Amino acid sequence: MDDDLGAFIATLPKAELHVHIEGTLEPELMFDLATRNRIEFPYADVDSVKKAYEFSNLQSFLDIYYQAAAVLRTAEDFADLMSAYLSKAARDGVTRAEMFFDPQTHTSRGVPFAEFMEGFASAQAAYADRISSGLIMCFLRHLSEDDALETLDQAEPFVDQIIAVGLDSSEVGHPPEKFARAYKKARSMGLRAVAHAGEEGPPDYIWASLDLLGAERIDHGVRCLDDPNLVKRLAEEQVPLTVCPMSNVRLKVVDRMQDHPLIRMLEAGLKVSINSDDPAYFGGYIADNYRNAATALGLTHEDLKRIADTSLASAFGAA
Ligand code: HPA
Ligand code: ZN
Repeated sequence: MDDDLGAFIATLPKAELHVHIEGTLEPELMFDLATRNRIEFPYADVDSVKKAYEFSNLQSFLDIYYQAAAVLRTAEDFADLMSAYLSKAARDGVTRAEMFFDPQTHTSRGVPFAEFMEGFASAQAAYADRISSGLIMCFLRHLSEDDALETLDQAEPFVDQIIAVGLDSSEVGHPPEKFARAYKKARSMGLRAVAHAGEEGPPDYIWASLDLLGAERIDHGVRCLDDPNLVKRLAEEQVPLTVCPMSNVRLKVVDRMQDHPLIRMLEAGLKVSINSDDPAYFGGYIADNYRNAATALGLTHEDLKRIADTSLASAFGAA
């Protein structure tokens, strides 16, 4: 690794706007929590867990990711998870983190809403002097809109702890319009709106996220390049796109980092940031994403500074 580049990236103030807190669960912590909670686990050791991280697409990742989340049970578990992430993010120069969490992954296993909200809050408070942070509650798009509405009801007592709603999980076949009522309700509760769109799904899902959900940022959005009219709109309206280069390579959205559309997106005048998505699964945290993209795509220090500044300008909250 180029040490100068590494030092430059780590000291560049930046926001992380696309990270799933459940996707920061490292295999070591997974084993500790399985032991602490006496949960049977289908892997013998950390190495066999890591060997399972060979993904062919989004779904092949999600299957393992939801299974692994089963070790998270108590407020203490969620606090440990959050603390581990915030410490790594601060190390990487993140001054503002807006983190996704998936309540349905936990409530469906009988974990009460209060348990994870309490755990997240205690870790966020412990790190507040080093990193500003906020939570984005995601609806799992493979589940029904009624389930999402029920989740919103459960979130009501904790709404002050949440800045926005988002939409994640299996994209293709679960278009944004399925969640129009849930987003309307969320916005009436004072929540901001973002949505995963155009990762594996078509440009139409980006249009619908903007027009039918009121999404203020698009998570991923790389497939916008298939639709010149959409690129024009995203550039004109300066809609932030939270791009995750290592995720895109690991989930085979792009073949190789050298082929990543980030360059074309920057050239089109799009408001692009670099993020880690699920760093424990995709081989690196946010600084690794900056460095790998920079090396493969020939990004200059000026390019990286522009991307980091864009991330801070795209955040809902202050650093
Ligand atoms: N896409 C959709 N759902 C997800 C992702 C992703 O990249 N990561 C975690 N849940
Ligand atoms: Zn994501």
